[in-house]
Amino acid sequence: MKAPQVRIAGLGTYSPAKILTNADWERMLETSDTWIQERTGIRERHVAEEGETTASMAAEASVRALADAGCEAGQVDSIVVASATPDRLLPSVAVDLQARIGAVNAQAFDVQAACSGWLYGLVVGEGLIASGTGERVLVLGAEKLTAIMDWQDRSTAVLFGDGAGAALLTKADGDRGIISSYLRSDGTLAELLWRPGGGAIHPPSEAMLKDRSYYIKMAGREVFKHAVRNMADAAGKALQKAGITADQVDLLVPHQANLRIIDATAEHAGIPPERCFVNVDRYGNTSSASIPIALDEARRSGRLKPGMTVLMVTFGAGLTWGAMVVKW
Ligand code: ACO
Repeated sequence: MKAPQVRIAGLGTYSPAKILTNADWERMLETSDTWIQERTGIRERHVAEEGETTASMAAEASVRALADAGCEAGQVDSIVVASATPDRLLPSVAVDLQARIGAVNAQAFDVQAACSGWLYGLVVGEGLIASGTGERVLVLGAEKLTAIMDWQDRSTAVLFGDGAGAALLTKADGDRGIISSYLRSDGTLAELLWRPGGGAIHPPSEAMLKDRSYYIKMAGREVFKHAVRNMADAAGKALQKAGITADQVDLLVPHQANLRIIDATAEHAGIPPERCFVNVDRYGNTSSASIPIALDEARRSGRLKPGMTVLMVTFGAGLTWGAMVVKW
């Protein structure tokens, strides 16, 4: 295994206190707890309340990650925020976060790779440190999906939740850190999972309020097939780059979108269920926040311990996908 240049020195997450159960959805839409659990594995999800925004959740997660790393906000030199749900289109979530936590010595910008955004952000952060541009890089996955999903569309609304996860990246000083990564995208498939309206092509209009094109649209079955195939492929590629095999992986932490996708990905990647971390049942799909939230929970529950080899695998709109091997 090659020596890492960059490590995760601190991790922090935030999930809103309010929980929406499948029973709550049964009262709002023509759906059932049985359907949702059988098709997705989701039982409940955290949802932002009035006043909770993508940036406010990112700030809570960041403060926790900084405390975990023993780092002051003023020491952070770079902030990279991955979000599919920016609070505003201009300027970035990252500058809002910078102001909220008082990271007065940082550069701050967003990356957009949908659910894969946090892994993309880690690779960007790794590059900033490797190039000498940064030394302490805060990488966020932060999402308020409940603001962009169609609460009247049962095929998408029941899938999503809100939350944020943050990692502080620093130089590695031993064998612990990012070992390998593999990222890919396919823009020819953008319309399988997208928000058609509200951008520069179709700016907000009265017609848009009627056709609901500013909400997430998804071709669920197609996305499902691409997710399984590409996540399994990315897992294999990242392992190959790290020079290890699946049996050397102590913990698989996949993007938490759907239990059936997670199970199929683990099986294709050759990793048994007992070495796969799952919490989609209690969070739903929190997009770019899902892997850091899962990692943090794995760590707190004792499933993830120092020295373990972790494989993270992701997939999202774009389409985008990727994987990363980390020596924890
Ligand atoms: N409750 C009850 N019935 C429903 C619901 C619901 N919430 N949603 C859809 N149905 C119905 C449909 O209307 C359809 O009914 P019909 O047969 O009478 O037409 C039936 O259930 C089957 O619908 P499908 O969409 O074919 O169901 P499928 O088995 O594919 O499951 C699901 C849908 C769960 C969305 C699945 O396709 C899936 O998980 N896809 C991947 C989605 C995903 O994870 N995306 C995120 C990855 S990328 C990212 O994280 C952004």
